Amino acid sequence: MRKEFLVYGAPAINDAEIEEVISVMRSGWLGTGPKVAQFESDFAKYKNIEYAIALNSCTAALHLSILAANIGKGDEVITTPLTFCATINAIIHAGATPVLADIDPRTMNICPKAVETKITSKTKAILLVHFAGRPCNMDALCQIAEKHQLKIIEDCAHAIETEYKGKKAGTFGDFGCFSFYVTKNVVTGEGGMVITKNEDDAARIKVLGLHGMSKDAWKRFGDDGFKHYQVVECGFKYNMMDLQAAIGIHQLERVESNWNKRQLVWKRYNQAFAALPVTLPALIEENTRHGYHLYTILIDEQRCGITRDQFLDAMAVQNIGTGVHYLSIPEHPYYQQTFGWQPEDYPEAMEVGRQTVSLPLSAKLTDEDVDDVINAVFAIISE
Ligand SMILES: Cc1ncc(COP(=O)(O)O)c(C=O)c1O
Repeated sequence: MRKEFLVYGAPAINDAEIEEVISVMRSGWLGTGPKVAQFESDFAKYKNIEYAIALNSCTAALHLSILAANIGKGDEVITTPLTFCATINAIIHAGATPVLADIDPRTMNICPKAVETKITSKTKAILLVHFAGRPCNMDALCQIAEKHQLKIIEDCAHAIETEYKGKKAGTFGDFGCFSFYVTKNVVTGEGGMVITKNEDDAARIKVLGLHGMSKDAWKRFGDDGFKHYQVVECGFKYNMMDLQAAIGIHQLERVESNWNKRQLVWKRYNQAFAALPVTLPALIEENTRHGYHLYTILIDEQRCGITRDQFLDAMAVQNIGTGVHYLSIPEHPYYQQTFGWQPEDYPEAMEVGRQTVSLPLSAKLTDEDVDDVINAVFAIISE
């Protein structure tokens, strides 16, 4: 058994970002500044899109995207029950009402047919999540959105590298929202980004993200003279710092090599677990690119002789950190009390949420770490 605990989702941090952070610390400009501007421009280039606005989280990115789409009180936004609570909370914070459409149990992504059954005269947007890094069925979802004149907001927290039929995740709809939280494929500690093709939307998000102060207010302490700013609406304190962007710039440089590393881990897990009575991630659909953010297996008590929660505990005993992505949204008391949702009303998400386990899938993993994860799973399941 492993001697040291393997932290789930620990990121691969190199000297380049460490030195960049030190240089920002020495520069005297720690807050939003030139490093953020560079990170935005690098990210826009990576996504081949006009505008990228860095924020302090994906939650902020989702919130501001909904506001910039002019969605609020009385409006409904359709989303998935198999997501992090931030997706739902962003809709609520914008003043709108979240409406859940169940997942396709194979892909674990929102089911377009289920979306169609949830559309009402109040529906204004589909907020989809490319779960685990697997792209949603964008042909079907874009068709539905077009037919009903709905906005599409993509929660790409898992999907920086994801593509569908040659097109990059986050560029299908009106807004693509990304997370650079510590466990994500590109990290800045905490951090987020919105991408959009629309200049007005980009400008609005920039203003909303810094108190509603007029564009470029962050430059007010620069070396080209004092600048007054004007508050043009009631915004939020959602800006990213140069300290964070300093990490992100170098993380983004390695986004593809890290993706390659995770793909190797993914393939090793697939091979190793093929004979076990666990459900592995579905095959990757043709003409798509998976972001390899989460490697999820399903632990069915009948087949594995152990419950999912017992498996999680047993992995911890083996010194391997794991994750659960996610208990379905209707399992949480707040949403039950507020919206009357029950897990059984979204049976596919409920089933996945009660059986799923995420195994470590970070670019930081060594071959030995991967061996340890595989050995631990075998020790538990074939006991
Ligand atoms: C699907 C999904 N959406 C949104 C978020 C929120 O991201 P952040 O922590 O950057 O606000 C996460 C983070 O885990 C996520 O996994």
